[in-house]
Amino acid sequence: MRIDILTLFPEMFSALQGSILGRAQKQGKIEINIVNIRDYTLDKHLKCDDYPFGGGAGMVMMPQPIGSAIESIDPNHDAWRIYMSPKGGVLKQQKVFELIEREWLILLCGHYEGVDQRVIDLFIDEEVSIGDYVLTGGELPAMVLTDCVSRYVDGVISTGSLVDESFSDNLLEYPQYTRPQEYKGLCVPEVLRSGDHAKVDAWRRERALEITKKCRPDLLNK
Ligand code: ADE
Repeated sequence: MRIDILTLFPEMFSALQGSILGRAQKQGKIEINIVNIRDYTLDKHLKCDDYPFGGGAGMVMMPQPIGSAIESIDPNHDAWRIYMSPKGGVLKQQKVFELIEREWLILLCGHYEGVDQRVIDLFIDEEVSIGDYVLTGGELPAMVLTDCVSRYVDGVISTGSLVDESFSDNLLEYPQYTRPQEYKGLCVPEVLRSGDHAKVDAWRRERALEITKKCRPDLLNK
């Protein structure tokens, strides 16, 4: 899978170089390209934002640098183009499953008061929000989306981890334990040390149900 991220703040994306996503990129399983929108401005002072027509606080990202970046990267509109925005549909696991079917995503990150509406009207397929709160920009949301989509690319993480995790079967994940057997007076449940796989599976299913009922009962009604 290929993901191109358009931003005015490319330095923020060093977080994607570490851990599992860093390794997946080195192994060629995913390609993540960070594109600096400023490289595409035709303004001699490299300006990419301006005051909003009609007045109001803050600055708005101008259409030309973003439009030129998208037209140059994806001239035939082969990618699925997403604008990270609090106005979009809220990202849920089901949306992640839809997005992994796409071979190529372009994620546009707004900053300040967002982007000129004509960019959205002309170039964007979908707006996606990562939750009902407003962040300073779309960079962290783009990293969130990139992370949760990349996990499902073949070979990025073990399939076992994907089967048992939260939201599969609309259940939250059961609790996990590792060594030591006792920590500050709390012991690992006996059943997990029994070696009886059927019993372990049943215990995990019960705990998953219990936790989902307690923390996210809405998931059980789906
Ligand atoms: N940009 C600012 N806030 C956002 C959010 N909640 N989701 C996606 N993009 C955003």
